[in-house]
Amino acid sequence: MGACERLPIGVFDSGVGGLTVVREIRRHLPGLDILYFGDTARVPYGNKSPETILRYSLEIGAFLVGQGIGSLVVACNTSSATALGRLGEDFPVPILGMIEPGARMAVSKSRNGRIGIIGTRATVASGAYERAVKALDPGAFVTSAACPLFVPLVEEGWVDGPVTLEVVRRYLGPLLAQGVDTLILGCTHYPVLVPAIEQAAPGVHLVSSAHAAALDLRERLGPGTVPDGKPGDLRVFVTDTGTHFQAMGDLILGEPIPVLEKIEEERLVFHAK
Ligand code: DGL
Repeated sequence: MGACERLPIGVFDSGVGGLTVVREIRRHLPGLDILYFGDTARVPYGNKSPETILRYSLEIGAFLVGQGIGSLVVACNTSSATALGRLGEDFPVPILGMIEPGARMAVSKSRNGRIGIIGTRATVASGAYERAVKALDPGAFVTSAACPLFVPLVEEGWVDGPVTLEVVRRYLGPLLAQGVDTLILGCTHYPVLVPAIEQAAPGVHLVSSAHAAALDLRERLGPGTVPDGKPGDLRVFVTDTGTHFQAMGDLILGEPIPVLEKIEEERLVFHAK
């Protein structure tokens, strides 16, 4: 990432969940202007093929680059796991994904070198987190699990209670049985489930890739200034304006989200170089 601090950054996700990343960025870099893109018409990405995820990611990347961003944050872990390398080849801006920062923080936190990874089916199938952890610590033991019910639970607002806790226990059981002391929350929505995950996995260090990526971004861009104490602007583009986004968005972001700007899917086109 270069010194493009005064240009807005683009942040994209398959939907509303990437606002966990925006929340962390606004906490650590409050002066940054952010253009957020949630692909609400085509969510979820987590059970789609790598080809489709790549195509969607390139289209959104092209849209945001066209808006004049200085750098691009791929908040969607599924896109980060599948499309990051290709995005880096095609767009002339620095690009940050979730995988590398999350892996780095997990390796630094783990005491026994046994690291668990949870994410969508596509993220886990890609093996991207596993490769990133092994590149940093070849001796690490890595085990992963797809948790496809976590995203709908969060989107329904079922973030605690007996049903959610039972689902969390079922998914995490096999990882805990393998002695992991650190767990990477490799999906935009999972930070919302932290209280339930802590209950199911007491004593396990939880690594939020959203948090890790925001710290990484601050390191790359510098903390910057906040003129007049005024937070940076936030614009939110979506491909579908269902009312659910607004309610979920406020909850996940921790502040009211601005008026949604609808982008017709026909405007999402990508031309290879
Ligand atoms: N944003 C996705 C991720 O972080 C989760 C939701 C989806 O499947 O699209 O992997």
